[in-house]
This record gives sequence, C-alpha cells and structure tokens, in this order.
Amino acid sequence: MNSSLIPVANPLAQYRSHAATIRSVVERVMESGWYILGTEVAEFEQEFAAYCGVSACIGVASGTDALLLALKGCGVNQGDEVITVSQTAVATVAAIELAGAVPVFCDIDPISHCMDPACIEPLITERTKAVVPVHLYGHPADMSEICAIAKKHSLLVIEDCAQAHGAMIGGQPVGSFGDVAAFSFYPTKNLGGIGDGGAVVTRRDDVAEKVRLLRQYGWKERYISHLSGMNSRLDELQAAILRVKLPLLNADNEKRRNIAAAYDVAINQNLFIAPGQQTGATHAMHLYVVECLKDRQQIIEAASSVGIATAIHYPQPVHWQPAYQHYLWEGQQLPETDRMVSRILSLPMYPELSDDQIEEVCCFLKSPTNR
Ligand SMILES: Cc1ncc(COP(=O)(O)O)c(C=O)c1O
Repeated sequence: MNSSLIPVANPLAQYRSHAATIRSVVERVMESGWYILGTEVAEFEQEFAAYCGVSACIGVASGTDALLLALKGCGVNQGDEVITVSQTAVATVAAIELAGAVPVFCDIDPISHCMDPACIEPLITERTKAVVPVHLYGHPADMSEICAIAKKHSLLVIEDCAQAHGAMIGGQPVGSFGDVAAFSFYPTKNLGGIGDGGAVVTRRDDVAEKVRLLRQYGWKERYISHLSGMNSRLDELQAAILRVKLPLLNADNEKRRNIAAAYDVAINQNLFIAPGQQTGATHAMHLYVVECLKDRQQIIEAASSVGIATAIHYPQPVHWQPAYQHYLWEGQQLPETDRMVSRILSLPMYPELSDDQIEEVCCFLKSPTNR
C-alpha cells in the first residue's frame, strides 16, 4: 500500500482527533480493574439503544456475532431459509450459515444497492423464516416495503446495520424497523472502536433477553446455563471508547454527507454515476461508491497516480465466491448484482478529510484521466 495516498477510510485520523479523551477513558477502565461486562458496557448499551430509538441494546464481540445472535435470538433455526442479498460483506451470509440456516440470495435495487423488495416474494418458500436486508454503504434499504412483505408472509426482519449507524428513513433510525438489528463497531465503521465490537438492538423484550443470555453461555446467574450459548462480549475498553464517539456520530455523518455533496457536484457524469439516494432516506455515507461507466482499472490507476486510494466493495458478490456459490438456486439470476460488480468503486470517505484532500478528490472526479 502506498502510504502517501489519501486513504478510503482513516481510523487513525479519527483516533488522533479525539486522542486525549480516548486515552483518558482507557486509563479509567484500566484503573477500574473491571474489564468485561461492567459499567462502561451497561452505560453504552443504554446510550446506543436510545440513539437507535429502541428499548434494548446488547454489546457483543463483533458485527458478525451480532448478526448470528440476532438470528438465534429471534428464533431462526437449523434448516430455515433466510433471504438476504449477495451484494454485501460476506459476514452477512456467514452469520446466516453459522446460525444453521440456509441463505437465499435476493437481487438489489440499482439506486440504493440494497435489497430490491420486488425480488423477495418469488424467493419465499414454506421454509422461509426471515429476511435480512443490509443497509449497504450507509443507504437504508426500503424498510416499509420489506416489512410489509415480511408481515404478509409472517417472516422475521433482521436488519444488518453494520454500515449504517445513524442512517434514517423519514427521520426514523435504522435498527428500529425490524424485529432485531445488528451493528458492527469495526474500526472503520461510522461508529468504530479500536478493535472488534458489535451490538444487537431490538424493541422486543423477548429477543433482548434471549440474546443477553446467548452472548454469555446462556447464563442467567453465573455458571448456570439456561440456554446453549457462547462467549461474545463487548469489552469495557471498546465500550468506553464508543461512548466517547457516539455523541459525535451525527456531526461526523453530516460531515460525510457534505463531502459526498461536494463530490456529487464535481463528478463527471460521462464517466461516473454518483451514489443515488431514495426519497426520504438519510444516507450515513459510510462509503462513497460510484459506478464507473468507462474502464474501471484505468480509473483506479489514474487515481493512484494522483495520490488517491480507491477500493472495491466488493470485488465478488457472495454468490460468486467458492464457499457460497452452492446457495444460488439452479437457474437463478441476480442481474443487477452481477451488473454492478465490475462498475463499483469506493473513493475516500471519512469525516477528517481536509478541504485540500476533498478538493483533490473533486478534481479527480471531474477529469480522472486528463491530469
Ligand atoms: C454489511 C456488513 N455486515 C456485517 C459485518 C460484520 O461485522 P464485523 O466485521 O464487526 O464482524 C460487516 C463488517 O464488515 C458489514 O460490512
């Protein structure tokens, strides 16, 4: 990696801009002598539940575990079919498989890059138990349509919010639409720790109670398991750091949206399609992903030559990947997912980008190959 490039994401810049506060809360936790499931986690859980507009949050060890525990917590069982997208981080599908369920791939909407509600119903069988929409790149999936279809067919809705902290639809935060939702606090996320972390959020008391047990061996009281569980706990250090960053999240997301607006104005429409936004959606702008209308490799090289890093999220949709290809139904096509894969390109997007860096990316988006 060329370290002089403007990176696509920059967790170090975020740490540096809050270093003194982060160091002081780390010291507070170290000196407390209590490192697992203490007051920092309990306070963070309350604060994050309130932020998401739900009654409960359970801190866990990663976003993947959050999805797994959300699925198990609302009763997805061995052999159940779970409809999700292939255009996502592999973690979404891995978690469904880890829960013992069978992933079923749904195509995406070309504007939001999220689950296309019109493609869901043909995938429903008598074994379908749940749908897992992903709020990809920070754009919320069409939750009113998805929840209406789920209700009609008595399906559970589990939101994958790993890329969408603070995204909203009509002012309502993601994570509060379905039965349960999963967040990741991986360091590059809009709300990121300094290590792994995740959370399950829900307004359903029964689900919250079950997830709380499952994350720690099914214990109700110490050493007595009431359910077969696992160890997936958010640690005190991560929770304390997340508590520093949570109050800054809305302002950070606003900065991301302002940067995206500057890119949108600059972008050469003969060469790129800017990220779309559906009516009523508030984008968390986790990633600024354009569609390249001309040779993407050439654009990547041109970006690198002027000091701008790019990335592809993701180079292969999950249904192309050796471990998961077999879940595609015989003859099943995902035309929009397949069409997108060779065109998508992520550009630098994080709140600490300087005005000069934003200007450099804007110049590049105006004329990528003539500089
Ligand atoms: C859409 C999506 N789902 C789930 C995850 C899994 O989160 P984690 O890396 O914290 O396990 C990620 C993180 O990369 C993600 O982007």
